[in-house]
Parts: sequence; C-alpha cells; structure tokens
Amino acid sequence: MSPMTVHLVAAARPNFMKIGPLHHELAQRTWCRPLVIHTGQHYDYNLSAAFFADLGLPEPHLHLGVGSGSHGVQTARCLEAYERVLLDEPPDWVVVAGDVNSTLACTLAASKLLIPVAHLEAGLRSWDRTMPEEVNRLVTDALADLLWTPSPDADANLLREGVDPAKIARVGNIMIDSLEQVRPRLEAIAAWRRWGLTPGEYGVVTLHRPANVDQAQALEVIIDALARAAARLPLVFPVHPRTQVRLNDFGLLSKAQAAPGLHLCEPLGYLDFMALVLKSRLCITDSGGIQEETTYLGIPCLTLRPNTERPITVELGTNRLVTPADLSANLDQALSGDWPRGRVPELWDGHTARRAADSLEMRLPA
Ligand code: UD1
Repeated sequence: MSPMTVHLVAAARPNFMKIGPLHHELAQRTWCRPLVIHTGQHYDYNLSAAFFADLGLPEPHLHLGVGSGSHGVQTARCLEAYERVLLDEPPDWVVVAGDVNSTLACTLAASKLLIPVAHLEAGLRSWDRTMPEEVNRLVTDALADLLWTPSPDADANLLREGVDPAKIARVGNIMIDSLEQVRPRLEAIAAWRRWGLTPGEYGVVTLHRPANVDQAQALEVIIDALARAAARLPLVFPVHPRTQVRLNDFGLLSKAQAAPGLHLCEPLGYLDFMALVLKSRLCITDSGGIQEETTYLGIPCLTLRPNTERPITVELGTNRLVTPADLSANLDQALSGDWPRGRVPELWDGHTARRAADSLEMRLPA
C-alpha cells in the first residue's frame, strides 16, 4: 500500500512549533508522507523562515502566498488557494493547528471536499467572540473529524458542544514537544547578554492582540504601565509587526523607546526567544502560547487579557490575568515570591506528537 499523504498546514508564527514535532514524528512512520503546506499568512523572516530553521522543518512542499489583509480578504484568499491545491492533488488527511485565519480557511476548504481534517490544539475556548481566534476555533472544531486536545477542559468544551466523543483524542500540549526538543541548545545561547542583563533579573514582554494594540488609548495605557514596571525590573520587548505599526501610527514609539529599562527589539526566532524566556524572572504577555510555556517552565506569567482560552494555566500553572491598572501590584507580588508555584498539566510531557501520530494511525483504512 502506498503511504498516506498528510498535509500539515502552517500559516503563522504560533503554528510552526505545533507542526514541527508532528512533522518529525510522521516522517518516521512508513505509512505516512507528511507534506508541509505554508499558507503565507506570516511571511517576514523572523515570523516564519527563522522558525523553520530553528525547528528543523523542511522547505514547505507548497507556499500559497496569502499574505496580510482584513479577516475577510485573508480568509478568502486562503480558502481559494488551498481549494485549488486540494482539487489538484488531494491528500488523505489535512492537519490544521491552533486558531489563526488560515486554520479556519483550510478546514473549510477540505471539509467541503470531504477530505478529513485533524485539528491540533482543539477544544480551547475563551468564551469571548470579540476575539477573531475564538470564531476560528469554534468553526474549525465544528467541522474537524479528529480533535486533538491538550487538556481535560478542552474535552469538556467539545462534549458540551455536542462533538462525538469518538472524534476526540486527548494527546497533550505539542508545544512542549518543541520546547523539549530544543531545550539542550537553549542554555548555550545566553540571549540576555545582548542587553547586558543578568539571568533571572529581567522580564520578557510580548503584545499583539488587537484589543491591546489597535486603539491608541488602550495601547498608551499599557505602554505607561510597562514603563513603570521597567523602572523596577528590566524588560525585553520583542515587538510584533502589528504592534510596531500601531506604535508608529499612534506616535507612541519614541515614548516606549525612551522608557528606562524597557528594551525594544525586533521579533526573535524560536531559539533566541525561548532562551530569553528560560532565564527570565517573569513574562508579561497577551500571547496564548507563552501562557503555556511559562506554566511548563514554572515562570510567573502576567497575562494582559480579561480572559484566556487556556484556563488550566491559571488553575494549575503560574499564569494570572491582569489589567494595566493592576500590573504594578502583580509585579510586586511576583518579585516578592508571592506567586503560585504551579504544576505541569498532565500530558504536557514532550510526547504529544507520538500520541497524535498513533491516533491517526488507528484511523488508517483497513
Ligand atoms: C495572527 C493571528 C493570531 C496570532 C498571531 C501571532 C489571526 C486572526 N491572528 O495575528 O491569532 O496570535 O498571528 O503572531 O489569524 N505582518 C507583517 N509581517 C508578517 C505578518 C504580518 O508585517 O509576516 C503585519 C501586517 O501589517 C499585518 C499585521 O502584521 O497586517 C497583522 O498580521 P495578521 O497575520 O493579520 O495578524 P497577527 O496580528 O499577526
């Protein structure tokens, strides 16, 4: 029997560390021919190619070149381009990851052509439909044929939505596989040296959610709060392109650059970024992935959001939801050691790709 072709759809920065370990695992299985499909949602070197290099991913089999645009435009371009690929060369399975616009578009394209879809990181819910990612998660999970969940809350969400339990496979958190695969290399990088910092005596900031960065007043309040925090603990802030554009547009860039202790830089690749996080005292973020990585590493995480689709990081881990107004009080608590020590959730153990590949193998045609 010829091997089964599996498309691994990668689109934007947070997808690459989820697809990487699964690609490596599937490439070792004789029944499988994994092909990486890059939709091109992210295209800057530091948001895309740097991750391929750091994670040992091969050149994409196909690049759809979708690029940036409004939600409608980006999703539509991706739907059209991927449908063409599926019509030309239909794979046996499509794997999509996370909750970006390409995740939704590729799921829709495959479903309509009756090609089965597996969703990696299924079942997460913030219950906040003002977040575009929540809409992407809901639609993707409603259509997918195999739902790979990271934690019990995700299973419960899917069951509540009426998903057939036979479609759900709890495999754990695949980002931890990526982290474990590179961890031996992180120690040697000493990323903190670039700013003359000391391990354990600095924080890492990331910020890119529309709710935080797309309005001048909200962004200014956050920059002011970060400036006050940086006076107490030096902060390294790799600036996402969306945030960079907004800081410029709103005339806030020079204010941020002038704040003592706040070190702005370009987005970092996976290895440099994780090396920085590994030795940090704490993180301040609105990212989904960093909430999980810090819980795994036992590092305090102050999440600048009113909700999270990853509640297990708050219940079990080291994550807390904060507002710009209470950032300073939370920083005090974290610095004084008054912070949950946290536990690592079950199945966040570096073996998620193996479990996902096994569950796909079980679904091979007889
Ligand atoms: C997207 C995802 C978000 C994810 C984030 C990680 C959606 C709805 N959002 O948000 O869930 O957390 O990626 O980064 O899919 N840009 C560049 N270079 C690039 C890509 C984008 O400069 O390589 C700029 C463009 O000005 C673009 C803007 O960033 O308009 C936003 O990019 P986009 O992909 O639309 O959303 P993100 O904010 O990156």
